[in-house]
Amino acid sequence: MDIKQAETRIRELREILWENSRLYYVENAPLMSDYEFDQKMHELESLENQFPSLITPDSPTRKVGSDLSSAYDRSDDGARSESGFRKAPHRYPMLSLANTYSLDDVQEFVSRAEKSIPEGFSYSCELKFDGTGISLTYRNGRLVQALTRGDGSVGDDVTENIRRISNIPVELKGSGWPAEFEIRGEILMPWDAFTALNREREDIGEAPFANPRNAASGSLKLLDPGEVARRGLICTLYHIPTQYIDFASSHSGALDKAASWGLPVSDERRVCHGISEVEGYLRKWETARKDLPYATDGAVIKIDELSAQMELGYTAKFPRWAVAYKFKSEEALTQVLSIDYQVGRTGAVTPVANLSPVPLSGTTVKRATLNNEDQMRLLDLHEGDWVWVEKGGEIIPKITRVELSRRTPGAPVPEFPKVCPDCGTPLFKPEGEARWFCPNTDGCPMQAKGRLIHFAGRKAMNILAGDATVEQLYNLSLVKTPADFYDLTRSQLMTLDGWKERSAERFLESLEASKATGFERVLFALGIRYVGEETAKSLARHFGDVDSLSEASVEQLMEAEDIGEVIAKSIVDYFSSEGNREQVRRLKAHGLRFSVGDVHVNADGVLKDKVIVISGTFSISRDSMKTLIESNGGKCSSSLSSKTSFLLAGAKPGPEKLRKAETLGVAVISEDDLYGMVPRPDGPATAPVPEDGELTLF
Ligand code: IVH
Repeated sequence: MDIKQAETRIRELREILWENSRLYYVENAPLMSDYEFDQKMHELESLENQFPSLITPDSPTRKVGSDLSSAYDRSDDGARSESGFRKAPHRYPMLSLANTYSLDDVQEFVSRAEKSIPEGFSYSCELKFDGTGISLTYRNGRLVQALTRGDGSVGDDVTENIRRISNIPVELKGSGWPAEFEIRGEILMPWDAFTALNREREDIGEAPFANPRNAASGSLKLLDPGEVARRGLICTLYHIPTQYIDFASSHSGALDKAASWGLPVSDERRVCHGISEVEGYLRKWETARKDLPYATDGAVIKIDELSAQMELGYTAKFPRWAVAYKFKSEEALTQVLSIDYQVGRTGAVTPVANLSPVPLSGTTVKRATLNNEDQMRLLDLHEGDWVWVEKGGEIIPKITRVELSRRTPGAPVPEFPKVCPDCGTPLFKPEGEARWFCPNTDGCPMQAKGRLIHFAGRKAMNILAGDATVEQLYNLSLVKTPADFYDLTRSQLMTLDGWKERSAERFLESLEASKATGFERVLFALGIRYVGEETAKSLARHFGDVDSLSEASVEQLMEAEDIGEVIAKSIVDYFSSEGNREQVRRLKAHGLRFSVGDVHVNADGVLKDKVIVISGTFSISRDSMKTLIESNGGKCSSSLSSKTSFLLAGAKPGPEKLRKAETLGVAVISEDDLYGMVPRPDGPATAPVPEDGELTLF
């Protein structure tokens, strides 16, 4: 692989990993199994090792996942909802653990540690609790703060909610605790509370949580502490940062002390001497965990002596003195009742098996994806077969193999449809593709609805239209194509089920606001095959407006950064359709942005590498202010973090933003200060840009 290919693959992997981290930590609805996630992370790691010049500080290999929605906001327009919690920094970063999947990997960890610590050590073996991370601070024996993991450096302050969890003491008992210390662990939702909550949710028509981890994390982020109290969450604590420990010489000793102060610490810990004892612990819990009242997804092996831990230290993401061992995914045997063929927005047809409901890892599995026709053939699936389904951390279970001993003799092989199950058009399979496609791009209802959902999505135009609304609008023939959204009237919206004046108004406001969305996001929203967020940015940068883009040949398209032949052809294809051109014309007439504007972007301008958050009003519009910053090489972000270079405060800035800037030590500058660095829209520049941190707070 040459560096150009590596760059493209690295970009792709980062995109996938970021998106899945966001789904996992923020939406509480991951699409990928932990195993698949780790595989992709390893691939990225090895590419970055091979091509170190491609490493960036924000790569998922350098940063732990984040439960803050702002961490995934790499867009430029600030259209983002805050979680509603105050953010606060962690005194010491909250790190993740390196994962292993086999005893060989564990052995390797042990051998590495033995090399560094020849005098020997013992292990503290613990369960790996499958909940959501928490860090509690006790001052003079009283609970004063509880932070979620956040991005590892800054978390959400959920103290009020944590106070309502019954096994967390607000006041410590006994004596000997440090005047101030942090203790970290996991918030869990036990199986019975989880089942009860999901039953309740289903009764009132809300989507059930896919697993207790998502339920715990979702519950902790509720803005109603009373509801949190009702949900039956529990806490288990497993880590005190060494900096606080002057009362014990080992990790296990420190946890024993914590337990004596009334803190919830697991009883299922063992101090092991040597690898065979460690293996014994892992073997025991591989099966015994099924009888626990809460979810676990592995075990954690920690080097127990604190002096040895300090010797080994940390990488940017993990401690070198601990490793997680993931338990094998559980399996269940069930029968395939029927197969649905779903059509996505690109026309791809995905077979999905309807299963006889079977309990597995705490949830009931009713459906499993079969991916594509080849996968069905590979499994050698026959109608009515009994199959093994597996569900690790993943939400969508997989069929791993057919139980041949249970096959009904003569059971036929299911026939993959020749025509679209929705519109009846004959399917086709492009060369080199594993999937079949419905070619009826304009007329197939499933594709049309998929495109509308994509167009309205948060990362695209961010219109307040969920799947159900789109379904209604489509079925009533009010919206068939994206441009139709902008023709909707208040009275039409009021005909929708359950819609009132206020909902119609909010919807129309979101439509109006969407018109300010930058060209690259509009391009992404169009849903051109293979044009993801990053590709859209690259195209917008290179071509500047939709006219040049739509006229470009495959060769010209391939001159843009990271555009290969497949993407180029797909773009040419898209613009060769009169229907698509008409869409673009109509959207343009509605005022959507189809060019990056006339501003010349100087990526090496004086604001290069500066991340700026703006708040309040200015002498120019906020949009113009963003354009001004970007045209001088700066980047606008909607959320403050330790990476923010400065907060640009106009008239009436948000008090929350000012407070946060102060907490994080981020400099606050005025509009005039900015004009000292970059030319005022109508005048010359005067002063050079200061380095980060040189400006004083006011
Ligand atoms: S120790 C510095 N111990 O698993 C290392 N973590 O995948 C601190 N987890 O971020 C973590 N059970 O949220 C530790 N017994 C245990 C754990 C545990 C679950 C979580 C924790 C961590 C994640 C890593």
